[in-house]
Amino acid sequence: MAKLIGGLGTSHIPTIGAVMDNKTMTGPYWERFVEGIKPARAWMKENKPDVCIVVYNDHGSNFGITLQNVIPFGIGMSKEYKPADEGYGRRKVPTCEGNQKLSIHLAQSLLADEFDIVQSYELDVDHGVTVPLSILCGEDLEEWPCQIIPLYVGVIQYPQPTGNRCYNLGKALRKAIDSFPEDLKVAVIGTGGLSHQLQGPRAGLLNQEYDKQWLDGLIKEPEKIKDISGVELIRETGSEGAEAIMWLVMRGAMDEEVKEVYKFMHKPVSNTNYSLVILENKSN
Ligand code: DHB
Ligand code: FE
Repeated sequence: MAKLIGGLGTSHIPTIGAVMDNKTMTGPYWERFVEGIKPARAWMKENKPDVCIVVYNDHGSNFGITLQNVIPFGIGMSKEYKPADEGYGRRKVPTCEGNQKLSIHLAQSLLADEFDIVQSYELDVDHGVTVPLSILCGEDLEEWPCQIIPLYVGVIQYPQPTGNRCYNLGKALRKAIDSFPEDLKVAVIGTGGLSHQLQGPRAGLLNQEYDKQWLDGLIKEPEKIKDISGVELIRETGSEGAEAIMWLVMRGAMDEEVKEVYKFMHKPVSNTNYSLVILENKSN
Protein backbone atom coordinates (compact mmCIF):
# COMPACT_ATOMS: atom_id res chain seq x y z
CA MET A 1 0.00 0.00 0.00
CA ALA A 2 1.08 3.61 -0.48
CA LYS A 3 2.46 5.29 2.62
CA LEU A 4 2.61 8.96 3.55
CA ILE A 5 6.19 9.42 4.76
CA GLY A 6 6.19 13.15 5.39
CA GLY A 7 4.63 16.56 5.10
CA LEU A 8 6.69 19.54 4.05
CA GLY A 9 5.90 23.22 3.78
CA THR A 10 7.88 25.82 1.88
CA SER A 11 7.39 29.29 0.44
CA HIS A 12 7.53 29.29 -3.38
CA ILE A 13 9.14 32.68 -4.13
CA PRO A 14 9.90 32.97 -7.91
CA THR A 15 13.08 35.00 -7.29
CA ILE A 16 14.62 31.91 -5.68
CA GLY A 17 14.19 30.02 -8.96
CA ALA A 18 15.58 32.87 -11.04
CA VAL A 19 18.60 33.34 -8.78
CA MET A 20 19.32 29.59 -8.71
CA ASP A 21 18.98 29.39 -12.51
CA ASN A 22 21.29 32.41 -13.00
CA LYS A 23 23.85 31.00 -10.53
CA THR A 24 23.78 34.17 -8.46
CA MET A 25 22.75 32.68 -5.12
CA THR A 26 25.91 34.00 -3.47
CA GLY A 27 26.92 36.71 -1.01
CA PRO A 28 25.50 37.82 2.33
CA TYR A 29 21.88 38.18 1.14
CA TRP A 30 21.64 34.44 0.38
CA GLU A 31 24.08 32.88 2.90
CA ARG A 32 21.56 32.11 5.62
CA PHE A 33 18.92 30.88 3.16
CA VAL A 34 21.38 28.51 1.43
CA GLU A 35 22.38 27.02 4.81
CA GLY A 36 18.75 26.91 5.94
CA ILE A 37 17.49 24.71 3.11
CA LYS A 38 20.31 22.13 3.34
CA PRO A 39 18.55 19.91 5.92
CA ALA A 40 15.47 19.73 3.67
CA ARG A 41 17.57 18.59 0.70
CA ALA A 42 19.19 16.01 2.98
CA TRP A 43 15.75 14.79 4.14
CA MET A 44 14.63 14.32 0.54
CA LYS A 45 17.82 12.39 -0.34
CA GLU A 46 17.52 10.19 2.71
CA ASN A 47 13.80 9.48 2.55
CA LYS A 48 13.41 9.34 -1.24
CA PRO A 49 9.68 9.83 -1.76
CA ASP A 50 8.49 8.10 -4.95
CA VAL A 51 5.76 10.70 -5.46
CA CYS A 52 5.41 14.25 -4.15
CA ILE A 53 1.93 15.74 -4.14
CA VAL A 54 2.66 19.45 -4.44
CA VAL A 55 -0.14 21.67 -3.14
CA TYR A 56 0.26 24.96 -4.97
CA ASN A 57 -1.52 27.90 -6.47
CA ASP A 58 -1.15 28.73 -10.10
CA HIS A 59 -0.41 32.47 -10.48
CA GLY A 60 -2.46 33.04 -13.63
CA SER A 61 -0.17 31.06 -15.92
CA ASN A 62 -2.56 28.16 -16.55
CA PHE A 63 -6.06 29.04 -15.64
CA GLY A 64 -5.77 32.21 -17.72
CA ILE A 65 -4.12 35.56 -17.09
CA THR A 66 -7.53 37.11 -17.66
CA LEU A 67 -8.92 34.82 -14.96
CA GLN A 68 -11.65 33.45 -17.19
CA ASN A 69 -11.73 30.29 -15.07
CA VAL A 70 -11.47 30.69 -11.31
CA ILE A 71 -11.10 27.25 -9.80
CA PRO A 72 -11.12 26.49 -6.05
CA PHE A 73 -9.44 23.05 -6.24
CA GLY A 74 -7.83 21.08 -9.06
CA ILE A 75 -5.58 18.07 -9.56
CA GLY A 76 -3.10 17.23 -12.30
CA MET A 77 -4.00 14.06 -14.22
CA SER A 78 -1.22 14.19 -16.78
CA LYS A 79 1.78 12.02 -17.63
CA GLU A 80 4.00 15.08 -17.36
CA TYR A 81 3.99 18.74 -16.37
CA LYS A 82 6.29 21.21 -18.12
CA PRO A 83 7.56 24.34 -16.39
CA ALA A 84 5.18 27.16 -17.37
CA ASP A 85 6.32 30.21 -19.32
CA GLU A 86 5.64 32.98 -16.80
CA GLY A 87 6.62 35.74 -19.21
CA TYR A 88 10.38 35.18 -19.46
CA GLY A 89 10.48 31.71 -21.02
CA ARG A 90 10.23 28.34 -19.35
CA ARG A 91 12.66 27.74 -16.46
CA LYS A 92 15.37 25.34 -17.57
CA VAL A 93 14.47 22.76 -14.97
CA PRO A 94 13.28 19.22 -15.68
CA THR A 95 9.75 18.47 -16.81
CA CYS A 96 7.88 16.84 -13.93
CA GLU A 97 6.97 13.21 -14.48
CA GLY A 98 3.42 12.54 -13.26
CA ASN A 99 1.78 9.35 -12.02
CA GLN A 100 -1.52 9.00 -13.86
CA LYS A 101 -2.57 5.88 -12.02
CA LEU A 102 -2.25 7.61 -8.67
CA SER A 103 -3.88 10.81 -10.01
CA ILE A 104 -6.91 8.84 -11.19
CA HIS A 105 -7.14 7.07 -7.84
CA LEU A 106 -6.86 10.36 -5.91
CA ALA A 107 -9.49 12.09 -8.09
CA GLN A 108 -11.82 9.13 -7.73
CA SER A 109 -11.41 8.97 -3.97
CA LEU A 110 -11.75 12.75 -3.50
CA LEU A 111 -14.91 12.87 -5.63
CA ALA A 112 -16.33 9.92 -3.70
CA ASP A 113 -15.67 12.01 -0.58
CA GLU A 114 -17.61 14.88 -2.19
CA PHE A 115 -14.65 17.11 -3.04
CA ASP A 116 -15.65 18.17 -6.55
CA ILE A 117 -12.13 18.62 -7.81
CA VAL A 118 -11.29 19.89 -11.31
CA GLN A 119 -9.17 17.36 -13.23
CA SER A 120 -6.52 18.87 -15.51
CA TYR A 121 -5.15 16.63 -18.26
CA GLU A 122 -3.01 19.45 -19.67
CA LEU A 123 -1.14 21.51 -17.15
CA ASP A 124 2.08 23.50 -17.10
CA VAL A 125 3.34 24.23 -13.61
CA ASP A 126 4.58 27.67 -12.57
CA HIS A 127 6.84 28.78 -9.70
CA GLY A 128 4.28 27.41 -7.22
CA VAL A 129 5.61 23.93 -8.12
CA THR A 130 9.02 24.41 -9.74
CA VAL A 131 10.54 26.60 -7.01
CA PRO A 132 9.70 24.23 -4.10
CA LEU A 133 11.21 21.40 -6.20
CA SER A 134 14.41 23.39 -6.75
CA ILE A 135 14.59 24.22 -3.05
CA LEU A 136 14.01 20.63 -1.92
CA CYS A 137 15.68 18.62 -4.68
CA GLY A 138 18.59 20.81 -5.78
CA GLU A 139 19.93 22.50 -8.89
CA ASP A 140 21.34 21.33 -12.25
CA LEU A 141 19.30 18.13 -12.22
CA GLU A 142 18.64 16.09 -15.38
CA GLU A 143 15.37 14.94 -13.84
CA TRP A 144 13.48 15.44 -10.58
CA PRO A 145 14.15 12.55 -8.18
CA CYS A 146 10.42 11.83 -7.69
CA GLN A 147 7.17 11.82 -9.61
CA ILE A 148 4.93 14.84 -9.07
CA ILE A 149 1.20 15.33 -8.75
CA PRO A 150 0.19 19.00 -8.66
CA LEU A 151 -2.78 19.78 -6.42
CA TYR A 152 -4.11 23.23 -7.15
CA VAL A 153 -5.77 25.63 -4.67
CA GLY A 154 -7.24 28.87 -6.03
CA VAL A 155 -6.00 31.73 -3.86
CA ILE A 156 -5.23 34.51 -6.35
CA GLN A 157 -8.81 35.70 -6.75
CA TYR A 158 -11.50 36.22 -4.13
CA PRO A 159 -13.47 34.39 -2.86
CA GLN A 160 -10.91 31.85 -1.66
CA PRO A 161 -11.49 28.45 -0.05
CA THR A 162 -11.52 28.43 3.76
CA GLY A 163 -8.68 27.02 5.85
CA ASN A 164 -11.11 24.46 7.24
CA ARG A 165 -12.00 23.25 3.74
CA CYS A 166 -8.30 22.93 2.88
CA TYR A 167 -7.67 20.98 6.10
CA ASN A 168 -10.53 18.61 5.32
CA LEU A 169 -9.28 18.22 1.76
CA GLY A 170 -5.99 17.11 3.32
CA LYS A 171 -7.83 14.51 5.40
CA ALA A 172 -9.61 13.17 2.31
CA LEU A 173 -6.28 13.17 0.47
CA ARG A 174 -4.75 11.04 3.23
CA LYS A 175 -7.59 8.54 2.97
CA ALA A 176 -6.97 8.39 -0.78
CA ILE A 177 -3.20 7.89 -0.36
CA ASP A 178 -3.71 5.17 2.26
CA SER A 179 -6.04 3.23 -0.04
CA PHE A 180 -3.74 3.17 -3.10
CA PRO A 181 -2.69 -0.46 -3.51
CA GLU A 182 0.86 0.07 -4.83
CA ASP A 183 3.85 0.28 -2.50
CA LEU A 184 4.75 3.93 -2.97
CA LYS A 185 6.38 6.40 -0.61
CA VAL A 186 4.40 9.62 -0.82
CA ALA A 187 5.20 13.10 0.52
CA VAL A 188 2.77 16.04 0.56
CA ILE A 189 4.29 19.49 0.09
CA GLY A 190 2.33 22.62 1.02
CA THR A 191 3.68 25.70 -0.74
CA GLY A 192 3.31 29.48 -0.65
CA GLY A 193 3.22 32.12 2.09
CA LEU A 194 4.09 32.86 4.69
CA SER A 195 3.57 36.59 5.19
CA HIS A 196 3.86 38.79 2.12
CA GLN A 197 1.91 41.39 0.22
CA LEU A 198 2.98 42.25 -3.30
CA GLN A 199 0.80 45.24 -4.15
CA GLY A 200 -1.24 48.14 -2.80
CA PRO A 201 -0.47 50.48 0.10
CA ARG A 202 0.65 47.58 2.33
CA ALA A 203 3.11 46.14 -0.24
CA GLY A 204 6.18 44.81 1.57
CA LEU A 205 4.27 43.79 4.70
CA LEU A 206 6.02 41.05 6.71
CA ASN A 207 4.82 39.69 10.05
CA GLN A 208 7.32 37.13 11.27
CA GLU A 209 5.91 37.11 14.81
CA TYR A 210 2.46 36.11 13.55
CA ASP A 211 3.97 33.55 11.15
CA LYS A 212 5.93 31.94 14.01
CA GLN A 213 2.81 31.53 16.11
CA TRP A 214 0.76 30.33 13.14
CA LEU A 215 3.36 27.72 12.18
CA ASP A 216 3.70 26.55 15.77
CA GLY A 217 -0.06 26.19 15.90
CA LEU A 218 -0.14 24.41 12.55
CA ILE A 219 2.24 21.78 13.93
CA LYS A 220 0.76 21.36 17.42
CA GLU A 221 -2.86 22.52 17.25
CA PRO A 222 -4.02 22.40 13.62
CA GLU A 223 -7.65 22.15 14.72
CA LYS A 224 -7.37 25.76 15.98
CA ILE A 225 -5.35 27.11 13.06
CA LYS A 226 -7.74 25.71 10.44
CA ASP A 227 -10.51 27.99 11.69
CA ILE A 228 -8.60 31.26 11.31
CA SER A 229 -10.60 33.36 8.86
CA GLY A 230 -9.25 34.48 5.51
CA VAL A 231 -9.80 38.08 6.66
CA GLU A 232 -7.54 37.60 9.71
CA LEU A 233 -4.87 35.90 7.63
CA ILE A 234 -4.87 38.74 5.09
CA ARG A 235 -4.95 41.42 7.81
CA GLU A 236 -2.03 39.89 9.73
CA THR A 237 0.09 38.41 6.92
CA GLY A 238 -0.83 40.37 3.78
CA SER A 239 -2.91 39.51 0.73
CA GLU A 240 -0.43 36.89 -0.50
CA GLY A 241 0.02 35.59 3.04
CA ALA A 242 -3.31 33.89 2.36
CA GLU A 243 -1.35 31.29 0.36
CA ALA A 244 -0.63 29.67 3.74
CA ILE A 245 -3.97 27.83 3.57
CA MET A 246 -2.21 25.41 1.22
CA TRP A 247 -0.05 24.26 4.13
CA LEU A 248 -3.32 23.23 5.81
CA VAL A 249 -3.93 20.65 3.06
CA MET A 250 -0.54 19.13 3.91
CA ARG A 251 -1.25 19.27 7.65
CA GLY A 252 -4.70 17.71 7.20
CA ALA A 253 -3.07 14.79 5.41
CA MET A 254 -0.73 14.13 8.34
CA ASP A 255 -1.65 12.41 11.62
CA GLU A 256 -3.03 14.54 14.44
CA GLU A 257 0.29 14.12 16.28
CA VAL A 258 3.38 14.88 14.27
CA LYS A 259 7.10 15.09 14.87
CA GLU A 260 8.71 18.39 13.91
CA VAL A 261 11.82 17.24 12.05
CA TYR A 262 12.98 20.68 10.91
CA LYS A 263 11.83 24.28 10.86
CA PHE A 264 13.50 27.34 9.31
CA MET A 265 12.41 30.96 8.87
CA HIS A 266 14.25 33.85 7.27
CA LYS A 267 13.19 37.33 6.24
CA PRO A 268 13.14 38.83 3.78
CA VAL A 269 13.56 36.55 0.81
CA SER A 270 12.28 38.78 -1.97
CA ASN A 271 9.05 40.10 -0.40
CA THR A 272 8.37 37.12 1.80
CA ASN A 273 9.06 35.78 5.28
CA TYR A 274 10.58 32.58 3.87
CA SER A 275 9.43 29.55 5.85
CA LEU A 276 10.19 25.85 5.67
CA VAL A 277 8.99 22.91 7.75
CA ILE A 278 9.39 19.12 7.67
CA LEU A 279 6.94 16.94 9.57
CA GLU A 280 6.74 13.20 10.04
CA ASN A 281 3.91 11.19 11.58
CA LYS A 282 4.77 10.07 15.12
CA SER A 283 3.48 6.62 14.20
CA ASN A 284 6.11 6.25 11.38
C1 DHB B 1 6.81 36.51 -4.25
C2 DHB B 1 6.24 35.48 -3.49
C3 DHB B 1 5.24 34.68 -4.04
O1 DHB B 1 4.63 33.68 -3.34
C4 DHB B 1 4.84 34.87 -5.35
O2 DHB B 1 3.91 34.05 -5.86
C5 DHB B 1 5.38 35.90 -6.11
C6 DHB B 1 6.37 36.72 -5.55
C7 DHB B 1 7.87 37.38 -3.69
O3 DHB B 1 8.16 37.32 -2.48
O4 DHB B 1 8.46 38.14 -4.45
FE1 FE C 1 2.81 32.88 -4.61
